[in-house]
Amino acid sequence: MIKFSNVSLIYPTSTKTILEDLSFSIVEGELVLVIGSTGTGKTSLLQLINGLVPHHTGGILAGDITVDGISTKLVRPGELALLGKIQLKDLLLTPLKKSWPLEWRR
Ligand SMILES: Nc1ncnc2c1ncn2[C@@H]1O[C@H](COP(=O)(O)OP(=O)(O)O)[C@@H](O)[C@H]1O
Ligand SMILES: [Mg+2]
Repeated sequence: MIKFSNVSLIYPTSTKTILEDLSFSIVEGELVLVIGSTGTGKTSLLQLINGLVPHHTGGILAGDITVDGISTKLVRPGELALLGKIQLKDLLLTPLKKSWPLEWRR
């Protein structure tokens, strides 16, 4: 399970909050689409799950994110990958877009 509890994110160079008080959970096998205009935080959201944010980007992360019960704050992205917990790649979403109806593509 992927669980976000009251997650807020701000990047070091940013003056605005990217994500604010976000809570949700995704159970194993559940298909979830993340959609939204450019700059709304889709990539940030996915990179919070694999830990690249904030471990590599920096920034202030409030709240808690767990992947299979492991807090992404405590485990670095490489370790999370070695544990086999992360299969998620932002790029995987790109081929899917090609099969979306025209009106969904922006
Ligand atoms: N590493 C970063 N450092 C500072 N600001 C960032 C960084 N990555 C993304 N941003 C900013 O965060 C906002 C959300 O970006 P992003 O998560 O890439 O959105 P999306 O994937 O929906 O286009 C944008 O305003 C973007 O400029
Ligand atoms: Mg993106």
